Amino acid sequence: MKIAVLGGTGLIGSQVVRILRTAGHDAAPLSPSTGVDLLTGQGLSEGLTGAEVVVNLTNSPTFDDASPAFFQTTMDNLLAAADRAGVSHAVVLSIVGVDQVPDLAYYRAKVLQEDILKAGPVPYSIVRATQFFEFVEAILSWTADDTTVRLPRTPVQPMAAADVAQAVADVSTGAPLRGVRNVAGPDVFALDELGRVTLAARGDQRTVTTDDNVGMFAAVPGAALIAVDDAVIASTTYREWLDRQG
Ligand SMILES: NC(=O)c1ccc[n+]([C@@H]2O[C@H](COP(=O)([O-])OP(=O)(O)OC[C@H]3O[C@@H](n4cnc5c(N)ncnc54)[C@H](OP(=O)(O)O)[C@@H]3O)[C@@H](O)[C@H]2O)c1
Repeated sequence: MKIAVLGGTGLIGSQVVRILRTAGHDAAPLSPSTGVDLLTGQGLSEGLTGAEVVVNLTNSPTFDDASPAFFQTTMDNLLAAADRAGVSHAVVLSIVGVDQVPDLAYYRAKVLQEDILKAGPVPYSIVRATQFFEFVEAILSWTADDTTVRLPRTPVQPMAAADVAQAVADVSTGAPLRGVRNVAGPDVFALDELGRVTLAARGDQRTVTTDDNVGMFAAVPGAALIAVDDAVIASTTYREWLDRQG
């Protein structure tokens, strides 16, 4: 099956392409670095020729108030081109609990992306994943200085990017869900505790200070980012993953 993977050069996209190719599919990574730009539409029609499935794993360059425009334009361009090409399944990767965090511009942008997909002409699936283990480093860096990392106690249930990619590949090769599949990691952490576990595993001497008012995740109400009842729970634990990083 020919599967066009928008953002197929990114963290998740590159792994999805690899999994799909290993399973015998004709998976094409489409992104600016392969000559396809979803913002301008450059290279899109050619890239989608013959594709039965499109998987959108692109990301906005910023998480701020510019992100809704990115997802609006890229989804409009993608769905119009997919419809013209006769694509029969469009898949988007979103975030568990995304519709419960209205105070974050990026989360509102991802809800907009989901809504455009649902209202569009192509049968669809949405995979909602929790925060990637690979994203923890960036989260810590946003509120860190040379001695201290400040983090709120926001509950998170992170998962390995490899497990996210497998879930996306599984959904992409199945029938359109016309709904959402939630996927999450095996363990819930308070974000400050996740920071302490991470620094300890790396031999990083900095201290984690709990501060419920700091950083992007302070805007998350209650347990909004925790897996809901129907979620598929991935097997890789954070400690196993940290051990493998060496
Ligand atoms: N971070 C998390 O914890 C988390 C959790 C749940 C869901 N997600 C979602 O997962 C998705 C993928 O994230 P990621 O970390 O794998 O992203 P990433 O590594 O930053 O990769 C982004 C991809 O988007 C491509 N791209 C950027 N602008 C583009 C454009 N104008 N046209 C076409 N392609 C474009 C990039 O292409 P180039 O390589 O050519 O620049 C790259 O392939 C995102 O939508 C995000 O919302 C993230």
